[in-house]
Amino acid sequence: MRIAVVGTGYVGLVAGTCFAEMGNHVTCVDIDEEKIARLKQGEIPIYEPGLSELVLSNHSHGRLDFSTTLVDAVADARVVFIAVGTPPGKDGSADLSAVFKVAADIGKAANGPKLIVDKSTVPVGTAARVKVLANEHSSHPIAVCSNPEFLKEGAAIDDFMKPDRVVIGAENAEDFELMDELYAPFVRNGAPILHMDPTSAEMTKYAANAMLATRISFMNEVARICDLVGADVSNVRRGIGSDARIGKPFLYPGIGYGGSCFPKDVKAIMATAKQNGYVFQILEAVEAVNQLQKGLMVEKVVDIFGEDLTGITIGLWGLAFKPRTDDMREAPAITICRELKARGAYIKACDPEALATGREAIGDHIDEYLEDMYDVADGCDAVIVCTEWNEYRNPDFDRLGGSMKRKLILDGRNILLERELQAHNFDRYGVGIPPILSSSKVKQ
Ligand SMILES: NC(=O)c1ccc[n+]([C@@H]2O[C@H](COP(=O)([O-])OP(=O)(O)OC[C@H]3O[C@@H](n4cnc5c(N)ncnc54)[C@H](O)[C@@H]3O)[C@@H](O)[C@H]2O)c1
Repeated sequence: MRIAVVGTGYVGLVAGTCFAEMGNHVTCVDIDEEKIARLKQGEIPIYEPGLSELVLSNHSHGRLDFSTTLVDAVADARVVFIAVGTPPGKDGSADLSAVFKVAADIGKAANGPKLIVDKSTVPVGTAARVKVLANEHSSHPIAVCSNPEFLKEGAAIDDFMKPDRVVIGAENAEDFELMDELYAPFVRNGAPILHMDPTSAEMTKYAANAMLATRISFMNEVARICDLVGADVSNVRRGIGSDARIGKPFLYPGIGYGGSCFPKDVKAIMATAKQNGYVFQILEAVEAVNQLQKGLMVEKVVDIFGEDLTGITIGLWGLAFKPRTDDMREAPAITICRELKARGAYIKACDPEALATGREAIGDHIDEYLEDMYDVADGCDAVIVCTEWNEYRNPDFDRLGGSMKRKLILDGRNILLERELQAHNFDRYGVGIPPILSSSKVKQ
């Protein structure tokens, strides 16, 4: 099948590449000329494991192309995906200006019947509005369906290739058939393709992200209470996660959720509720807890060193909002650096993939951006683990102990091994787990 994907970001590039991998001819379109030029030269603008190899091989086989010219890509395609960004507007509702601009442009470019697929995360009713807009500008019939995307950054290729389910919201059998044909190669493992109306499909995406964000904030509150009563949240997590009614995923406490999806989608569904005369009370709490949680490591630093952090050097391991991505959108590290800097701390940081994007997002709130985690720790009063990259799980504690001013780690992701910390006389504060207090002495 010939496909166009408009918007070549984390979702558009992954979706387009995976469709090409299954033998389709795909043109990925973007208004970002530099991004398209880099892709044409085989340079991948984002970090996503496994993506580079797939892009290069499909591009070289002629199944995947990149363009800034929407008109040509749409003229060639039977199905046109919209995968542009839908950032939060001032009131928290999704800013749909890019989606609507693309919908009108597709209408103008249509040279025959087209199926537009909304893959961007969009509020309820958007597919209907896209349909009206596209048809206003077209003399050919344009159908629209909703096909929300559930991939996770860091595992995007795997998620897209082997989805738990595919949700399709369409209005007629022909559109369902076209979409089923497109997705058939991805569901050979038996994952369901769920057919529904576009409104329910749009709602499904927000409900999924809202539920996952709720689990995270719930566990972060449980962790805070564990801290207060001396319980260990890791045990509690295992205890409740083994209950089949609850399940294990998304029960890890930490320093708050970030990224391009949860924060904005929680806000957007709250805005949708409000516009329809309802207050989504649980999500108001979910969001408030998340804001509080982003400040947890700063609270701990202040408890230890006091409000004035002048002369204190803090190292950050990890900047991205989660491992295996370079995405800095709404990353807790941004809040942590701002708050520490405001109190006078000197900050050093590293991240295996997000140094460039981190610098863009945090700028001079970080004093030194470094490649190496040990260079970051060198001379520090404390290191904060912000992102649970695998390389931070088993550090060389002898080396760290020799170079840090004080053997103190604030483990925002609870990833360091207790016995190793104890064996090397490190102090460690985590999230909802009992502190380890073994040394606490500043070296002379
Ligand atoms: N990132 C994720 O993990 C994820 C997961 C599921 C769903 N989503 C949703 O998918 C959508 C895209 O997210 P993303 O993370 O890929 O965003 P992104 O910012 O990485 O990419 C969006 C791309 O759209 C391009 N664009 C904007 N206006 C355009 C226009 N008029 N014509 C052509 N291109 C245009 C931008 O230049 C950018 O390259 C959002 O609605 C998001 O909520 C994202």
